[in-house]
Amino acid sequence: MRKAGIDFGLTHVKAHWIEPTGQRRYLSTMDGFDRRSLSNELWHRFRIDALSAAGNGPTDGFERFAHHRPEGDPLSLEISTQAAGAARLLEEAGVAVAGKHLIVAVGTGTSYALQDGGACLPLLGSAVGAGTVDGLLASMGMPSGPGIDEALDAEAAPPHFDLMLAEAVPSLKGTPYEAFVASHFAKAARDAPADQAACDLRFAASAVNLLLVDVARSLLLFGNDPLCSGATDVVVLGTMPTRSRVVRRFLEQYLRMIGKNPIFPPHAEYALAVGAYHASDLLP
Ligand SMILES: Nc1ncnc2c1ncn2[C@@H]1O[C@H](COP(=O)(O)OP(=O)(O)OP(=O)(O)O)[C@@H](O)[C@H]1O
Ligand SMILES: [Mg+2]
Repeated sequence: MRKAGIDFGLTHVKAHWIEPTGQRRYLSTMDGFDRRSLSNELWHRFRIDALSAAGNGPTDGFERFAHHRPEGDPLSLEISTQAAGAARLLEEAGVAVAGKHLIVAVGTGTSYALQDGGACLPLLGSAVGAGTVDGLLASMGMPSGPGIDEALDAEAAPPHFDLMLAEAVPSLKGTPYEAFVASHFAKAARDAPADQAACDLRFAASAVNLLLVDVARSLLLFGNDPLCSGATDVVVLGTMPTRSRVVRRFLEQYLRMIGKNPIFPPHAEYALAVGAYHASDLLP
């Protein structure tokens, strides 16, 4: 039996395993495979027949494998397995994250956890996630996923539709509040450009802002919980902040603005698959 760790996400399926030679492998539906071809690739090319499974998305297309999955609350299991995978990715990359830190996983929705000396405490998640950005863009007929960078990467500060606090309250200009959003998308109703391409660009930037401001706000609110106080390091997981330069750049700015230290582990989109691979006592 040859195993892979597999993350059945709500949007993507990701697999991780270590070859007998020690080579680490990462393969997913984000890299040109649909579910069926990913399944074929694992089975035929890599001779994998057992899956140490995690994640709460659909498993169709992977019926031929032996599935192993620990029992327990599905959401807590996902979050703690993901945290364990993130710790491994950090260790493998030689990045030391000492002590208490927060973990944010921007998946289809967004999950949060507090990691403290090996213990993982799931925190309240948010329904605003990468799936929200995708959904907003799709409802406007715009490309999402990798398309986000093509739309937004041309400019250092792409125009958007958000009403900024310093625009709403001009006396706040020049203060730290200048960079805060007073109301997402509000300017679309006030001064939308006639040109559709310019409108699309602003819409995309606001959709990304909506997500990242929600992340920053959630992290700030967790600071009110005595358990989380003093946690300034934030480990960021999920496909969107890992693969999109723009999202990463903006998120980094937002987190620094609220006094947090963002950490982006390499292969962070595979954290749950890595956690699942090592969680199982199946033979490699
Ligand atoms: N290159 C990319 N740039 C930006 N976003 C991307 C890119 N590739 C994928 N995404 C987005 O990432 C999102 C999926 O995130 P992720 O893979 O972390 O979620 P998931 O694990 O499938 O879902 P969940 O964790 O909620 O079960 C999708 O919304 C997708 O559009
Ligand atoms: Mg996920």
